[in-house]
Amino acid sequence: MTSEDNKSERLVIVSNRLPIALSKDKNNQWHVKPGSGGLVTALAPVLKNRGGIWIGWPGNVAENGIDTAQLLQKGTKAFGYKLKPIDLSQEEIEKYYKGFANEIIWPLFHDFVALCKFNPDYWFTYKQVNRRFAETIKQNARDSDFIWVHDYHLMGVGSELRNIGIKNRIAFFLHIPFPPPDVFIRLPWRFQILNSLLGYDLVGFQTMRDRRNFVQCIRQFITGVRIEMKGQIGKLIIGNREVRVGALPISIDFKEMAKNAESGEVMKRAADIKESFNGQKIILGIDRLDYSKGIPERLKGFRNALRRFPELREKITLIQVVVPSRRDIESYADLKIEIEQLVGEINGQFTKSNWVPIHYFFRSLDKTELLATYRACDIALITPLKDGMNLIAKEYCAANCDETGVLIMSEFAGAASQFQKHALLVNPHDIEGIAEAIHRAYRMNEKERKSRMRILRQNVMKYNIFWWVDNFLQAAIAKNLDSFPPLDEYMPTTQAE
Ligand code: G6P
Repeated sequence: MTSEDNKSERLVIVSNRLPIALSKDKNNQWHVKPGSGGLVTALAPVLKNRGGIWIGWPGNVAENGIDTAQLLQKGTKAFGYKLKPIDLSQEEIEKYYKGFANEIIWPLFHDFVALCKFNPDYWFTYKQVNRRFAETIKQNARDSDFIWVHDYHLMGVGSELRNIGIKNRIAFFLHIPFPPPDVFIRLPWRFQILNSLLGYDLVGFQTMRDRRNFVQCIRQFITGVRIEMKGQIGKLIIGNREVRVGALPISIDFKEMAKNAESGEVMKRAADIKESFNGQKIILGIDRLDYSKGIPERLKGFRNALRRFPELREKITLIQVVVPSRRDIESYADLKIEIEQLVGEINGQFTKSNWVPIHYFFRSLDKTELLATYRACDIALITPLKDGMNLIAKEYCAANCDETGVLIMSEFAGAASQFQKHALLVNPHDIEGIAEAIHRAYRMNEKERKSRMRILRQNVMKYNIFWWVDNFLQAAIAKNLDSFPPLDEYMPTTQAE
């Protein structure tokens, strides 16, 4: 089955957030706009073609007197598929979304155990909301539908669906990393989460590392599972059931991104940005405000570069864009203060009358501005402490149509296992290593830059978001798993210098 085939089997997509943006105007009227993320870009055509439905939270607090279902029905007529909202109360947002998902699973799975708040109330509400998702799926799915659940907010949906008697084929994809057993063991609800994931027919991870961690947790914590791992898609056999586990790196719509990056408007804006920096090399950091992104360490790495390599002063500028996110969670608010203090200190120490080392933006960029910034920047400095994949890295490559940019990449982002040494890999905790990579990228000749970037772009072009969707669906239904290529085939084979 590819996204084109098997039209009778509709697709039911389930994610915490619906792919829309809801906003309220001055007169308290709600408006619906389509979302623009990679996932919706890839899945919308499949949903339109095969028919289907997307179930999720519209992103607002449920208010008395607001009929979200009706609002969505009116506002999403042109989508070509249906959206089914799950309303969350203020308490559910606090305990399920902010609490269990973002103050337990998110920090734990990104190796920030000290930030976890293992509050039993959070677990109770997570279970309750996951059950509601499962019931909504049951009410809306036909027997032949393929159900595809996304991300860490909904790991519990697998067992809930089986408990209420759903027999459909159900699959799950984890967008964030999966931790090794010595980290996962801290989770008080470790058995429940693993058993729930075993309720799915296919569980997909971003990288081999995540899949290996998951399989090791199964081996360590769950008895009676036969493990058959080879190639990209392996099997866990439990009695007469088979659960497939795959490593399937998510991606972006390369063609669309590259095409838009060549538009007149983007080229003009990129030229303006370049000009305003007077021939300096521009380094780009762009992240959602999140402690997993390694922003303070990156800033320290940049400061280290300015200290150790004085020839870089007045010759490089860092544009650091931080996109607001999860603002009412304490650790995120603290991080914002830390970042802004560091930016202030570094600028305070190095600024000259005609040069400010860090240009800091705390906001999101619109599409044109984002693409123009990608195009204008000579170096992308993407150094998360841990990241499921990191699509910014892939977007930077796609937009880099003249193939002269350099990608400096954390070795702990999923994308690093795909890009390997064609990017300049760094340990994001090593501020000296970051400084050296900046210096090396600054001095790299055009021939080497082009040869590296060409390979990176070819890789992202081939393993794009549509490849990912087709491969995932194929992994769920293929009779013969040997037809899947070994994972090394996703890696660039030509050597960079
Ligand atoms: C990560 C998660 C997504 C999530 C996104 C934004 O990429 O994997 O599932 O939607 O962050 O976070 P938010 O909490 O705003 O949904």
